Amino acid sequence: MIYLDNAATTFPKPLVVTDAVSECLSDYCGNPGRAGHALSVRAAEAVYSCREAIAALFGSDCPENVVFSGNATGALNLALHGMLRGGDHVLISGIEHNAVLRPVHAMLGEGVTYSVYPASPDPDEVIRGLEKRLRPDTRLVVACHASNICGIVLPLAEIGAFCEKHRLRFVADVSQSAGKIPINIGEIGADAICAPGHKGLYGPPGVGFVLFGDKYRGENGKKLRPLLSGGSGSRSKEAEMPPFLPERLEAGTLPLPAIAGLEAGIRAVAAIGPERLAEYEGELAAKSADGLGDIPGVRVWLPGLVRENGIVLFTADGIPPEEVARRLDGRGICVRAGYHCAPLAHKTVGTPEGGAVRASFSMYNTENDVTALLEAMKEIVSER
Ligand code: ALA
Repeated sequence: MIYLDNAATTFPKPLVVTDAVSECLSDYCGNPGRAGHALSVRAAEAVYSCREAIAALFGSDCPENVVFSGNATGALNLALHGMLRGGDHVLISGIEHNAVLRPVHAMLGEGVTYSVYPASPDPDEVIRGLEKRLRPDTRLVVACHASNICGIVLPLAEIGAFCEKHRLRFVADVSQSAGKIPINIGEIGADAICAPGHKGLYGPPGVGFVLFGDKYRGENGKKLRPLLSGGSGSRSKEAEMPPFLPERLEAGTLPLPAIAGLEAGIRAVAAIGPERLAEYEGELAAKSADGLGDIPGVRVWLPGLVRENGIVLFTADGIPPEEVARRLDGRGICVRAGYHCAPLAHKTVGTPEGGAVRASFSMYNTENDVTALLEAMKEIVSER
């Protein structure tokens, strides 16, 4: 089996990750922060250690501002619900995933409105698009750092500077870039960065996180509206959620095994270096894009950008994307086809009805996988 669906979730996971999950489940899987006994304390230490690893990865000195969620969608819902109120206008980019589009759309009922600004790697174009859509009631900008379907990478530092100039909150969705593109929360001026644990950080599914910016330190956490309310292990006699992070936004028992695995994944990625990983995956993507582009009847979308993100988006004339994916699966190659939960991004790229096929790489893919994809696609188009 050749797995080329790493943009959905990386597979396989490093051995250190499976070992960390297994060790947690067998040695110390108490409930973190809920008791003073040894197992609970050990569990809480593991959770804190992962908060420290996340904070360090993104240049923050505040592990308490790391709030765990179930996945990136949970993290984005948490940040958006936490910051937005009825009457607020939001600017979202043309490459946002449904993890952003649907939460802001769902808030229309609360009086939140949104506009879509054009997504482009060109900072001037992005800032012009933002300026054009800025309104007196605009409160927040969301930027998907790297698209989940193509190599468009938004200029976060410039968007952050725009937000600072206009006193807007700034939420960055780094789901596809975390672990590949170095990100410093202070340098990009974000109020929140959201990511899953199971993609480029090589953790298990079941955990995502928001890292909040400095303005939410300590009791400033109470500016954030909790999405869920419930047990937090602290201030138990009070009916309100605690005013400080992370407890304010973390109701209920945390997914400790996934958190333990995530820390191991982050340390594995940091040891190799995100830039090296991005370069390796980008090289495989570039070879795939070149080879696919040479097959008559195959079109690669935005081929010049594939190195940015290790993602290749393509279509085959006369064969629907889902059918291409099915035939690749029949040859032992896993890819994802359709709209990839990102209709805005497909509109930006200009793919036809039905979307496209996506091949995405991880540190475990090799040039043999690229060769297999190209050979399989040559056969598939010749069967048409
Ligand atoms: N967001 C994931 C993807 O791009 C699941 O496939």
